[in-house]
Amino acid sequence: MDYEKPLFFQVMQYAEAADRDVIDMVSGNPDWEPPEALRDGLCEYAELPVERFQYPPSDGLLELREEIASRRNVSLESVIVTNGAGEANYLAMAEALDRDAGTEVILTDPVYPYYPGKIQMLGGEPVYVPAEEDGRLDAAAVRERASSDTAAVVVNSPNNPTGAVYGEKTVEKLVGIVEEFDAILVSDEVYDHFDYSGRFSSALSVDSPHRAVTSGFSKSMAITGFRVGYAVLPPELAEPARTRHMLVNVTGSRPAQYAVLKALRETGPEYYEANRAMLRERIDAFTEALDAAGARYTRPDGAFYVLARFDGFPGTLDNVERLIDEAGVAGMPGEAFGSSRADWLRFALVTPRAEEAADRLSDFFA
Ligand SMILES: Cc1ncc(COP(=O)(O)O)c(C=O)c1O
Repeated sequence: MDYEKPLFFQVMQYAEAADRDVIDMVSGNPDWEPPEALRDGLCEYAELPVERFQYPPSDGLLELREEIASRRNVSLESVIVTNGAGEANYLAMAEALDRDAGTEVILTDPVYPYYPGKIQMLGGEPVYVPAEEDGRLDAAAVRERASSDTAAVVVNSPNNPTGAVYGEKTVEKLVGIVEEFDAILVSDEVYDHFDYSGRFSSALSVDSPHRAVTSGFSKSMAITGFRVGYAVLPPELAEPARTRHMLVNVTGSRPAQYAVLKALRETGPEYYEANRAMLRERIDAFTEALDAAGARYTRPDGAFYVLARFDGFPGTLDNVERLIDEAGVAGMPGEAFGSSRADWLRFALVTPRAEEAADRLSDFFA
């Protein structure tokens, strides 16, 4: 086996087993409410006739695919409902590698750790382009790294872990690069509802047979346990991806898709805006407390993670375990996200106790 289990679960288990109160800032599990219509959808589902408890179409409930296609302004055929954005990423990467148009997949460093794991599992080779100090991606650096052996470029905006949001120019340039090198751009946009900068540009804004977009409802509706995501794939990839999805999963969860569809139809923009406002406050409170603790950090333009660095305390797994035991704060080791942020720690703002966590860190480092 040349791929490894991501560290997340190991750190979460360590924090849970700790013999003290620990503020959990490890996972990307939102602690806020889903849309009301989502809970209504689940209740409604329990009363439906038994036929509705059986397999939905493999590529997702037709009405849900139609709703996604119309919101994203793409063709119905290009949309596959998946078990989260995670599966959508897997499908896009698998089909990009299956084109026999290269074996290398360009990733950024820092990187969302599930990408290199999936690529290795699929027999591809991850190669890295370092992100800028502030987390932004320089498309020129991607172009320099690209070659005839590039199968795909995988990016994530708004970004986990840096919080960077890629603007229109970057996205256009990335599509241009994959076109030039006959590769596929996989743009993971699962945090698309968490842009605080107003600069977010979806790769769907550039029409190309070389770009795939992945997203889902885990974060936007605070339902990571439901497993509803989707891929928007170019025609060349959509058909084989459907077959792959069917062979691996048979299909997805019907009640979850039903509830998501109802929530999509009945939830107004104020739900998403309220969550962004709440997260902006958390970012302010957490980063102000980090200032007081003398830490360096990146202020996120999007998503809900903060990378922070404390002098003389590199972001190793050992140090993360020390912070759990001695400060009562659980974060993720920077080394889990590649080499460029190995000295940093990542904190997920998925707790109302974010400010208290920063105060605890401040006391610990004082
Ligand atoms: C960048 C990124 N992509 C994908 C996922 C997984 O999303 P899903 O729950 O929709 O599979 C996550 C979860 O944290 C993520 O951070």
